[in-house]
Amino acid sequence: MYARVDHELHVDGVALSAITEALGTPVYVYSQAVVAARYARLERALAPGGGRIHYAVKANGNLAILQLLARFGAGFDIVSGGELERVLRAGGVAADTVFSGVGKSTPELDFALKAGIGCFNVESLGELARLEARARLLGAVAPIAVRVNPDVDAGTHPYISTGLKENKFGVPEAQALDMYRHAAASPVLHPIGIACHIGSQISAMGPYVAALERLLGVVDALAAADIRLEHLDLGGGFGVRYRDEDEFNVDALGTVVAPRVAERGLRLAVEPGRYLVADAGALLTRVEYLKPAPAPGHRSFAVVDAAMNDLLRPALYQAWHDIEPVADPQGEQGTPRLWDVVGPVCETGDFLGTGRRLALSEGDLLAVRGAGAYGMALSSNYNARRRAAEVLVADGAFRVIRRRETLRDQLALEVGLPDAGDEMP
Ligand code: LLP
Repeated sequence: MYARVDHELHVDGVALSAITEALGTPVYVYSQAVVAARYARLERALAPGGGRIHYAVKANGNLAILQLLARFGAGFDIVSGGELERVLRAGGVAADTVFSGVGKSTPELDFALKAGIGCFNVESLGELARLEARARLLGAVAPIAVRVNPDVDAGTHPYISTGLKENKFGVPEAQALDMYRHAAASPVLHPIGIACHIGSQISAMGPYVAALERLLGVVDALAAADIRLEHLDLGGGFGVRYRDEDEFNVDALGTVVAPRVAERGLRLAVEPGRYLVADAGALLTRVEYLKPAPAPGHRSFAVVDAAMNDLLRPALYQAWHDIEPVADPQGEQGTPRLWDVVGPVCETGDFLGTGRRLALSEGDLLAVRGAGAYGMALSSNYNARRRAAEVLVADGAFRVIRRRETLRDQLALEVGLPDAGDEMP
């Protein structure tokens, strides 16, 4: 866990400055203990109803993080062949993996069918037809759930809201019923579940209960047609506290949702990403230059060596991440002022935080907190920047779980090297 010890921020007994001395900045740091604690908390909450956790790989797909979660017993939620490859390489089990996403390609469907995926969360009539054709061709049976779009307002940022009818995800209930009837009559499609995912960073239970009611309506209509499912997948989206939000109360999943699902003889499944990894991560960055306001009415900029290519969330969603100095400010430096913490990328939107009250000097190390989910995962090479290194802290020691990218890594794709090929064509 993150704590200040001897005037410096530590994670699980490791001084953050020890990590940057060894590896430089920017660097992502993850605490194994935090991931473990979050997983245990969610597992405990779901235990009474026997709910199943499928970690949403997109939040943080580093192999070491996936290995950790596989070791804890998690299943996985993937949205691409690449994510399936990661899960398999990390020791995850295909049969305990669900495949979500509106645009699964034919090679991706084939790859997942051959691997023995646990469930396809099907999002359109077209996808169902293509999956049926591919299963027939490969001599496989495809386990499916239909992703229903319950038209529920999750009360979250519009870019991460997914369960409204104007969103591209899932299908309306009536169409879902048609898809199930078709699947039930097909020898190569096996309907085993029903799914939804209404959005991300949701703090209230209300939207989930509203979605649940819609899904249970479909479940009942199917039962009347003698189509019986095994699980109900309520998606992910459980919100964390970045600033002053209410953290989503996972206990309510066990007490409110699981019993309603169990009444129908179904098992509850969830697909959390952020909830399990966000708090575990910090992005460490160093102050390069200070540009204090030259006159009243101007802003003061602290230019740091991490940028929107490393952590896109502030630029894309105006997301808040706490920013704190790794070492406590000393003496002269102790007078704080308001800084916009900005990166070197040539975009006005390139900020990690605006108007932060900090006492800063050039060379200071800062920790951008809550960066374990959708941090490294959304990073890019914009401005030909090298993607950051990643470090896992466990049992009082740290190890590199992804080395810092080199310029050679970036150029390798363009200098005419032969294509090494892919297991998934
Ligand atoms: N299941 C499905 C089908 C999803 O699309 C997602 C997230 C999840 C599960 C996991 O959601 P979570 O529990 O992590 O909220 N880049 C944005 C978040 C995008 C989420 C996309 N889908 C951000 O940084 O806030």
